[in-house]
Amino acid sequence: MPEKTGRQGLFVFTLKKIHYRQVTAKVNSYRIAVIPGDGTGPEMVREGEKVLQAAASKFNFVLEMERFDYGGERYLHTGEVLPEGAVETMRQFDSIFLGAIGHPQVKPGILEKGLLLQLRFELDQYINLRPVKLYPGIETPLKDKGPEEIDFVVVRENTEGLYAGSGGFLRKGTPYEVAVQESINTRRGVERCLRYAFELCRNRDRRKLTLCAKTNVLTYASDLWERAFHEVGEEHPEIERDYGHVDAVAMWMVKSPEQFDVIVTDNMFGDIITDLGAIIQGGMGIAAGANINPEGTSMFEPIGGSAPKYANKNVINPLAAICAGRMMLEHLGQKEAALAVENAVVETCRKHLKSLSAGQMGHSTNEIGDLVVGYLK
Ligand code: IPM
Ligand code: MN
Repeated sequence: MPEKTGRQGLFVFTLKKIHYRQVTAKVNSYRIAVIPGDGTGPEMVREGEKVLQAAASKFNFVLEMERFDYGGERYLHTGEVLPEGAVETMRQFDSIFLGAIGHPQVKPGILEKGLLLQLRFELDQYINLRPVKLYPGIETPLKDKGPEEIDFVVVRENTEGLYAGSGGFLRKGTPYEVAVQESINTRRGVERCLRYAFELCRNRDRRKLTLCAKTNVLTYASDLWERAFHEVGEEHPEIERDYGHVDAVAMWMVKSPEQFDVIVTDNMFGDIITDLGAIIQGGMGIAAGANINPEGTSMFEPIGGSAPKYANKNVINPLAAICAGRMMLEHLGQKEAALAVENAVVETCRKHLKSLSAGQMGHSTNEIGDLVVGYLK
């Protein structure tokens, strides 16, 4: 009786599935795609994984890491940046942990567009979240500023604006050449970014949200941002709304960073002001970012580049990757573990690091990972 056999099959399958789900729910298991990438990426990721696994065993959850060799080397061998199906594969993971991309033998733009931006766009990671927080014991180039003054977050729109790739050439290569690069700002894209920023802001003490745009010149794009900002803001009377032109925001980030709590901005402005943010929090040795799709697969990365001249020397500072890992834990809902990693990073900086710069830390890359793990225990 074929019909009955079929039903039995289905029944067994269902049981197995339920059983599997119960098991994963109990131990809190997460599947993480790891892309070490180029240059110093693999060393940073190695230390990041070390800390993440230590946190997992301490706080009783499981991180199943699977590695992918995407990056410059693979591209040079195969001619493709991301193999077919890569995006779909990535989509199956709970999160992606990325080292760095950028290879001296690969023309600039190929890996950036083909890997980093491709994953951000295809996985619809529409938020680029970059905390600018100065930890105690870390030096900032800002005179008379300390951890009390430097503690804000930038919410950067991550799929539109000048990054959308809209535009083209006319009469390329001639003296009459024209290059057009358009900033794409959709109501939906802007609004979802703003909503995320308001939500984030609600959960902080200060509850002040600054829109960073350029309404005095970008009378279309920034106008849309401004209108949407106030419309969404009406739904959040508990949040103070503030506005700054991007040039002024850059100046204030240096002169009085204490005035900022959460800054929301478009892709290009966000790219620029977060490098400024990174340097005032101590530099690329510590700055981390998250590419977030609140309903999908998010990706966590140190925001510095692949620094090929320091690769394989065990001199690069892995704290930025460790901090990216901390953001991943928080995103996965492991808040206690995230906090423990943050505290361990602070202790490591306070008690051991001479500097955050590669080669000047007074410790090797793996020693820093070990120190952080030590403070976790
Ligand atoms: C960043 C980087 C990227 C960006 C580059 C590498 C494409 O600068 O993550 O900020 O511009 O977004
Ligand atoms: Mn950047």
